[in-house]
Amino acid sequence: MKRVAILISGGGSNMVKLVESMAGDHPARPVLVLSNEPLAGGIALAKKFGIETSVVNHRHFEGREAFDRALNSQLEAVQPDVICLAGFMRILTPVFTRRWAGRVLNIHPSLLPKYPGLDTHARALQAGDAEAGCTVHEVTDVLDDGPIRGQARVAIEAGDTPETLAARVLKMEHRLYPAVLERFVSGKTGPVYLREEAEAPITSRLSD
Ligand code: GRF
Repeated sequence: MKRVAILISGGGSNMVKLVESMAGDHPARPVLVLSNEPLAGGIALAKKFGIETSVVNHRHFEGREAFDRALNSQLEAVQPDVICLAGFMRILTPVFTRRWAGRVLNIHPSLLPKYPGLDTHARALQAGDAEAGCTVHEVTDVLDDGPIRGQARVAIEAGDTPETLAARVLKMEHRLYPAVLERFVSGKTGPVYLREEAEAPITSRLSD
C-alpha cells in the first residue's frame, strides 16, 4: 500500500478529493495532511477523516531552507511514497525537492507551461485565451516546471471573471488530481487529459 502525504495551505478541497479517492482497491492511502498555515480549513477536514495532521508554520523559521528542513523531518516520520502539494502556497527549495525527488506532485491552476506563478486566471483572461485549465506536474527545483502528468481544459466564456473561471477550473482540479495520483502510484506513465463537459450542443463545439 503506497503512503501519501498531502501538503496544504488553505481550504483543502483538493486534499479532500484525493483522500476520498484513496479507498477500496486503490493502491494508496493518506498518511499525513500537513499545512504551513495553522488556521487552514483543510486541517479540520483532514481530522474528520481521521488522518494524522501537522502544522509547520513557515513564519517560525528563518529562511526557506530552515522551513524545508522542518517539513522534511515531519515527512520522514511518516515515510511517504508520494507527496501531493494541494493548494500549497510556499515555494520549495532544493532542500525539499532534492530530498523527495521523483515523488512529489503539484496541481497548478493553468495550462502549463503557460502562466507559471500566481494570478493565472486573470492572466489568461487578459491574454484573451480561448481556454484555461489546470496541470498536475512532478515537482522539480524549478517552480511550476516539472514533467506534466495531467491537464484539464475549460473553455473561457464571455463575461468570465478570474473568480468564475477559478470556480470552473477548481471543479476540474478535483477530477484531474485523483486520476493522476492513481496512475502515479500504479506506475502508469502516460499523462491524463480531461476536458470540461461542453454546455453547448455538440454541433457548436470546435473539432478536437
Ligand atoms: C485553488 O486556487 C487551486 O486552484 C490551487 O490551490 C487553491 C486552493 O486549493 N491548486 P484547495 O481548495 O486548498 O485545494
